[in-house]
Amino acid sequence: MKTAKLILDDKEYEIPVVAGTENEPALDIRKLRDTTGLITYDPGYANTGSCKSGITFIDGDRGILRYRGYPIEELAGNVRFSAAAYLLIYGRMPSEAEFMEWRKQLTLNSFIHASQVNFFDNYSVHAHPMNILSAMVSSISSFYPHIGGENDNMDQHIHRLIGQVKTIAAFSYRKSVGLPYVYPRTDHSYSANFLRMMFATPAEEYVVPKVMENALDMLLILHMDHEQNCSTSTVRMVASSMSNIYASVSAGINALWGRLHGGANEAVLTMLQRIADDGSDYKKYVEMAKRKDDPFKLMGFGHRVYKNFDPRSKILKKAVDDVLTEMGIQDPLLDIAKNLEEVALKDDFFIERKLYPNVDFYSGILYRALGIPTEMFTVLFAIGRMPGWIAHWLEMSKDPDLRIQRPRQVYTGETLRHYEKTIYP
Ligand code: SDX
Repeated sequence: MKTAKLILDDKEYEIPVVAGTENEPALDIRKLRDTTGLITYDPGYANTGSCKSGITFIDGDRGILRYRGYPIEELAGNVRFSAAAYLLIYGRMPSEAEFMEWRKQLTLNSFIHASQVNFFDNYSVHAHPMNILSAMVSSISSFYPHIGGENDNMDQHIHRLIGQVKTIAAFSYRKSVGLPYVYPRTDHSYSANFLRMMFATPAEEYVVPKVMENALDMLLILHMDHEQNCSTSTVRMVASSMSNIYASVSAGINALWGRLHGGANEAVLTMLQRIADDGSDYKKYVEMAKRKDDPFKLMGFGHRVYKNFDPRSKILKKAVDDVLTEMGIQDPLLDIAKNLEEVALKDDFFIERKLYPNVDFYSGILYRALGIPTEMFTVLFAIGRMPGWIAHWLEMSKDPDLRIQRPRQVYTGETLRHYEKTIYP
C-alpha cells in the first residue's frame, strides 16, 4: 500500500494513501487522531473527502462531469430526465419496459396526500417557494408513519419524492396566482407533466410544446447531481444520524436555497435585471465585483471544483441560443449575460482566481423563456437535484464505512476560568 510520511516532534508517522477508480489519491486519515493526537483543519472541507461514492465523477481541471460513467454531454438533450434519474439511482439505464413502468409509478405516486394539499391554504402569501418546498417534503413522511419499518417499500418513497416534488412546486405556483390545481397524467413525460401542471388552463386542452418539454428535460438532467456539493453533503449529514429520507432531503432543500449555492440562479437574474435597469452598464458591475470593499459578486461565476469551465454552463449557453431562437424570443438579459462573460473572462482578476460561468449563469434565462417565475428558479434546481439526493441517501445507507458525521474543531474560546457568584436582582 502507498503511504505518506508525517514528521511531528521528531516522530515519523505513515499515513495510508487510497485511490478510487479514477486514480485520485487521498490520505486515509481515519486513524490520524488515534495515532498522532492531531486533527485536520479544513474550513469548507475544500480538501476533505467525506465518503467514497460511485455516483458522479467530476474533474474540475478538465471540465469533466459524468453520471455513473456517462459524460453529461451524452445525456443532456439526448435522454428523458426520468430515464437519467433511473440511471443515477439504480446505476444503469432502464430497459424500455422498465422505463415505462418507472415513469408510470412516478406519475401515480406524484399525488400529494389530500390532507396535505390543504397546507397550501395556510402559508404566508410572502412565503418563498423554497420555504414551502422544504416544509412540504419534510411533511410527506407524516402521512407514511411506517417509513423505515421492516416491510417498508423504499422504491415507493423514491417514486413519491421524485413525483411529488414537481407537484408541490406546481401547486405552490398555482396557489400563488390563484389558479386551480392541475393533476399529472400517465400519458405525459415528467417534464411535460410539470409544464402542464404549471401552465394548463382547465378551459381547454393544453398541449406542451416539444421545444419546452425537451428544454426542461435537459435543464433537469444538468442539475441532477454534482457529487459532494453543499446540499448533497447536507442530505448525507442528516441521513448519517438515521433520519428518514424525507427529513434528509428537506434539509438538502434548505441548503440549496442559499444564494452561494442553488439560490444563485435566482440571484443571477436579479443581477442581470439590475444591470439592465442601470443602463446595461455591465463593465461597471465587473469592476464592482473585483472590489474588496464591495460585497457585490458576479453571481453565476466561480466554482469550488471547476477551475477551467463548468461543462454544464457550456451546454446551457448553446441551448439558450437554440431554444430562444426556436421559440422566437429575444431576451435583452441574455445579451447582458454574454457581455458580462466576455469581459470577465479577459479580466486578470477573474483569470487569476479561475472564475468562470457556472451552471447558474445561463440557466435562469432558459427558465424565464419557459415561463418559470424567477422566485421558482431554485425550486427547479431542487426538482432536478432530487434524484441525486436520493442516490446519495441510498448509497450512504448501504455504506459499510457509514458513521454519524461529527467533525472536530480547533477551539479558540476562553481557557479555564471559574464562576464568581454574582447575585442578580
Ligand atoms: C452551485 O459545489 C457544487 O458543485 C455546487 C453546484 C452544484 O451543482 O451543486 O455546482 C451549484 O452552487 C454553483 C455555484 C453557484 N454560486 C454562485 O454563482 C455564487 C457566486 N460564486 C461564489 O460565491 C463562489 O465562487 C463560490 C461560492 C461558488 C465558490 O466559493 P469558494 O470556492 O469558497 O471560493 P472563494 O469564495 O474562496 O473565492 C476565491 C476568490 C475570492 O477572492 P480573494 O479573496 O482570493 O481575493 O475568488 C473571489 C473571492 O472573493 N470570487 C469572486 C466570485 N467567486 C469567487 N469574486 C467575484 N465574483 C464571484 N462570483
